[in-house]
Amino acid sequence: MLLEGERDTILKTTSAVLAEHGARREKLIPLLQAVQEQLGYLPKLAMEEIAAALDIPAVEVFGPATFYNSFRLHPPGEHQFKVCMGTACYMIGGQIALDSFERRLQIKPGETTADRRFSLDQVACVGCCSLAPVVVVDNFVEGKVTPTRVDGLILSYESNGQKVEQDSQQTEATNTDEAKGEEGS
Ligand code: FES
Repeated sequence: MLLEGERDTILKTTSAVLAEHGARREKLIPLLQAVQEQLGYLPKLAMEEIAAALDIPAVEVFGPATFYNSFRLHPPGEHQFKVCMGTACYMIGGQIALDSFERRLQIKPGETTADRRFSLDQVACVGCCSLAPVVVVDNFVEGKVTPTRVDGLILSYESNGQKVEQDSQQTEATNTDEAKGEEGS
């Protein structure tokens, strides 16, 4: 669903991109790339506008947009969770972490929550295999991510958007307190 004023922004941006690159069929990919670069994703409305300008069926624009992984069809979330699915991470629990995010956020990789707070992606090796399974949260690398840690990460941003390191300490403290509570009961 588009936010207030977003429709105008998309139309203006698409129109400017068409004017700059030219409304020609052979320019389809550069047009899509330019729109994504400016808006952060490829809205359906922009693709429909491009199809109309190029005088081709919309499906001929949706085709390449959905085929190439480099195109994002949903707006980026305020916070982005990128779950590494490289070999090391996959073998040690990457899929479990990804499943946890999907279940908790109710979205699939490549999607964004309805409130646009979070988006979820799966990525190839990010070069920190010793920390597997790894999740990149915005610009922070989070290692050895368990389902419990997934909950902690989401909760920290749901409440007040604190940084990952702060939340990390809070979660550890909480877990310790819970463990003490269980020991004492
Ligand atoms: S496989 Fe995940 S960081 Fe290398």
